[in-house]
Amino acid sequence: MYTQAMDTMAREGGAKLEKVLSADEQHLQERFDARIDAGDFIEAKDWMPDNYRKTLLRQISQHAHSEIVGMLPEGNWIARAPTLKRKAILLAKVQDEGGHGLYLYAAAETLGQSRDQMVEALHSGKAKYSSIFNYPTLTWADIGTVGWLVDGAAIMNQVPICRCSYAPYARAMIRICREESFHQRQGFDSLLVMMKEGTDAQRAMVQDAVDRWWWPCLMMFGPPDDQSPNNAQGMRWGIKRVSNDTLRQKFIDATVDQAKLLGVTLPDPDLKWNEERQAHDFGTIDWSEFWRVVAGDGPNNRERLAMRVKAWDDGAWVREAALAHAAKQSTQKEAA
Ligand SMILES: [Fe+2]
Ligand SMILES: [Fe+2]
Repeated sequence: MYTQAMDTMAREGGAKLEKVLSADEQHLQERFDARIDAGDFIEAKDWMPDNYRKTLLRQISQHAHSEIVGMLPEGNWIARAPTLKRKAILLAKVQDEGGHGLYLYAAAETLGQSRDQMVEALHSGKAKYSSIFNYPTLTWADIGTVGWLVDGAAIMNQVPICRCSYAPYARAMIRICREESFHQRQGFDSLLVMMKEGTDAQRAMVQDAVDRWWWPCLMMFGPPDDQSPNNAQGMRWGIKRVSNDTLRQKFIDATVDQAKLLGVTLPDPDLKWNEERQAHDFGTIDWSEFWRVVAGDGPNNRERLAMRVKAWDDGAWVREAALAHAAKQSTQKEAA
């Protein structure tokens, strides 16, 4: 789903952007820049500057990790879904997220890092994933709200990545975005049923979930543009097409009407239409909370990582069996 973490590197030193180039490299660099300026797509075998490769690797692997960790808060509701229909939908959604992770790991591998290296970086805490998944899903209404708001924010973030200059990432994103719209719709539909046909207690449950998820969702777009030094380079390279603040504003403007349709209140007393800007004004985001969660101190950081590592360890026998099977098949082929 989720790309916010790219910007967090600014606080961690980021990549060094300047280095002395040889004449050959200078020529390749100029050709690369011209292709980017012309709106060309870069393929895995094409020459690319080291920092372009590193930036993409960081972003795509973080994105892949987010899809995989994002399965956890929803997965724990599959057995508790209220009806067979909702269970089937949730199961399909969580499987989609697993598939997104795999497309993205494959896209990142084209840049020269193995899946094992990426998984190791996640499990050791070196690699980040979207901080939104460090919040708990306390009730069934949280599952609808995650679909509506978290997947909704993810779509807003991800549609521009379908035009990312790195072609394998852009291609993966086209498939992913189609599935993300189903995720958003199923979440909205689930909340609509509770709001229109449910009990007062169910309506209160939806409002409570929206109150808890709204602000963390706004943080999914990353820090404000003036605090995101990586933004400009990402834009220059055609990796990032639209700035954090622009995407956040678009998300808010689109969500206000949907909230009205649902009959829920977005928890921001300063949220109001600004005729002059033709956009909604909104309250101040608590960025200290964002940085705290990114640094590992959110409500569920430790639990999520521990679950992920356990799932990996528990699955070791499956990987071993698959390798043994592949080895047996290739021996049989050689013998034939
Ligand atoms: Fe996804
Ligand atoms: Fe999704």
